[in-house]
Amino acid sequence: MPLQDVERFLSPTGRELHASAIRRMGTVAARRSDLISFAAGYPAPDLFPLDELREIAATLLSSGRDALQYGPTRGHGPLIDELAREMARRHVAVTSQDLLVTTGSQQGLDLVARVLVGPDDAVLVEAPTFTGAISAFGNARPRWIAGVRQDDHGIDLEDLERATARVRSHGARPKLLYVVPNFQNPTGKLMPQDRRHALLAWAERHDCLIVEDDPYGALYFEGEVEPDAIRPVKAADDAGPRAVLQARLRPGPDRGHAAARLRAVRGRRA
Ligand SMILES: Cc1ncc(COP(=O)(O)O)c(C=O)c1O
Repeated sequence: MPLQDVERFLSPTGRELHASAIRRMGTVAARRSDLISFAAGYPAPDLFPLDELREIAATLLSSGRDALQYGPTRGHGPLIDELAREMARRHVAVTSQDLLVTTGSQQGLDLVARVLVGPDDAVLVEAPTFTGAISAFGNARPRWIAGVRQDDHGIDLEDLERATARVRSHGARPKLLYVVPNFQNPTGKLMPQDRRHALLAWAERHDCLIVEDDPYGALYFEGEVEPDAIRPVKAADDAGPRAVLQARLRPGPDRGHAAARLRAVRGRRA
């Protein structure tokens, strides 16, 4: 008998899922070649390194069949080692054991939400923030996603304290704060280093974690910003670890990676 109503098989999470506004906008943009949409951060296609990708694919495929075989779940070993060196260049001290390769930042957010967020938790976010993050945290069904005001330099520390007290007074546990310190989406704000340090002190004081999303740290006009200004929160996380950093190699068809000293990243025996 044909099924009339497959919707009734959906789980509580499945019932809550909606197409994202960004994806809907992407459908409109794909239909119109004369439309330049700033709604989603689509990279300029001219910047996709087609020749390099062709060359890499040809080298890999001519090196035998192993390139198409399953590999380690955390990612290709030499790539992870290179990412650890890249993290060190950005002053983030992590070992290869702390890194996980993902298919973009969104998958990183989804994994982070799944392993960290529970039903009694509150997630604090900058208001406004990236819609994909709200979806990822919302799918983990926390008690509360609370917005924290921003001023010209990003998240407002006093409002962060107020929001922390507010969610506590409603019986929720402030579990993590999600921030985009470098060229925040959607405001483009760059958070000063002293405020990043203050966030770590806040996390220590309230026993919370910071999820730092850094897809845009490498994307700025040379000379406009000092490289030290984009140093991640995670770089100062020596007493912690309190911060989970996820970064993106570059926009387009590539990978993101997450750095965290979590058992879920390191594997059970680590
Ligand atoms: C702050 C932020 N995080 C994550 C993402 C998702 O990135 P990805 O395309 O690598 O999944 C975006 C994309 O717009 C973003 O702005």
